[in-house]
Amino acid sequence: MFIILSIFVTLVFVLYWYGTRNFGYWKNKGIKHDPAYPFIGSNFKQLTFQVGLSDYFTDLYKRYPNERFVGVYLSTDKSLLLRDPRDVQHVLITDFHNFYLRGLKLHKDESDPFLKHLFIADGDLWKLLRVRMTPAFTTGKLKAMFPLIIERAQKLQVLAAEICNESDEVDVKDLLARYTTDFIGACGFGVDMDSLHDENSLFRKLGNRIFKITKTDIVKMLLKVFFPAIFKDLDAVSPDVKNMTTSLVDQIMKQRNYKPSERNDFIDLMLEIRQKGKMIGESIEKKNPDGTPMIVEEEFNDLLIAAQAFVFFAAGFETSSSTSSFTLHQLAFHPEAQEKCQKEIDEVLQKYENKLCYEAVKDMKYLTMAFKESMRIFPSVGVLLRKSASKYTFPDSDLTIDEGVGIIIPNHAMQMDEKYFDEPEKFIPERFSPENIHNIKNHVYLPFGEGPRACIGKIINVVI
Ligand code: HEM
Repeated sequence: MFIILSIFVTLVFVLYWYGTRNFGYWKNKGIKHDPAYPFIGSNFKQLTFQVGLSDYFTDLYKRYPNERFVGVYLSTDKSLLLRDPRDVQHVLITDFHNFYLRGLKLHKDESDPFLKHLFIADGDLWKLLRVRMTPAFTTGKLKAMFPLIIERAQKLQVLAAEICNESDEVDVKDLLARYTTDFIGACGFGVDMDSLHDENSLFRKLGNRIFKITKTDIVKMLLKVFFPAIFKDLDAVSPDVKNMTTSLVDQIMKQRNYKPSERNDFIDLMLEIRQKGKMIGESIEKKNPDGTPMIVEEEFNDLLIAAQAFVFFAAGFETSSSTSSFTLHQLAFHPEAQEKCQKEIDEVLQKYENKLCYEAVKDMKYLTMAFKESMRIFPSVGVLLRKSASKYTFPDSDLTIDEGVGIIIPNHAMQMDEKYFDEPEKFIPERFSPENIHNIKNHVYLPFGEGPRACIGKIINVVI
């Protein structure tokens, strides 16, 4: 009996130690933070999906108005919330060499191959992928895709008019999610799925599944968060999403005989990279004895291609469709701004003989301002994340953080802070007019992030 009791007490003690082992970190550094609970850390509500990540960090940002830094324990991991735009600049740009990690993998050896995509990959794999994929996101490539975009936009126009004739209510979020799915299918994958009309199209199913979190997903995620080393081989992306993406990409590559088809879409780019053989480049992590970066390489195999296709779809779909629907939402509540947009669209189209084209969209200046203002109030990504690759002292401060400390940049909170934007709750597209835009402080308006790891798809959103 005594032995059983001793084992039980030891186990409880070890578990308690494990679940609280980092909790003295911020106190020892004199950094304020919320109370932390064993295993859960300071973000119970976010971990149990009661509040979103962005809302949680916005609340934290507001509750410590006089601090430059706020300590956070995400489960047992140490993170630091930045409140000063100068520190944001250091992390995202000036000292990027120390903050090139996004740090989303729960364990450095997590084995799910679907995590090897640009958004989550870290270190050398990220750099090799970013260098190879950047050429896909140029204005030239975008212009080449424009006829496909117009075709989808015209279908959207017809469908929206039909729905308005049939009913007083339109689910704009759903409509734009379908449009974006169609758009990404055509421009990224060369597939016409007609998701606008067909709720059961493969892309629509994929989009719905990626952003639907099931109970099994939650249990898996919590196990991985609490015991990352033990559950590092548990699927991070659900098997049905992986199967759907892999079979879709395989099918398209086979149709193209594994050679670029001159469609200039995302799959063509993947096939071009594959044809070039191994990705080779300078390491961001390892140095030779003489201090020069080591040369590293990685095979660009089919699984890596499927993982990139997954992120292209996942990162592009929800962000773009929510940005467009938030903008329409704002315009619905601000008829005066809506009228200005409408007038501008009519005038610009007249100038371009009623033909929608890349140049015409670029000419719609007020519409662009409305988009920017909408992304300020409702950014689809409300926090930016990085991780420290080694010990780092913040300039003009006594704070030194260690390798592996997470960095949280609460861009939504900063975009809604009256210190930076007068009457931040109000929708005022004129904030982004050529006369006013210089009043916006640097490094506080970040809907696409900033620096070498900013959104690679930013250019596409000029026209979506
Ligand atoms: C309005 C639409 C979009 C918004 C608001 C948006 C926003 C963002 C943000 C905030 C980040 C993180 C940046 C950082 O950490 O500094 C990001 C990263 C990324 N986005 Fe977007 N995005 C949008 C559309 C797209 C599209 C259409 C694509 C793909 C075609 C895309 C692909 C990516 C990828 C691959 C990354 C990771 C980049 C890296 O880590 O190197 N995004 N996006």
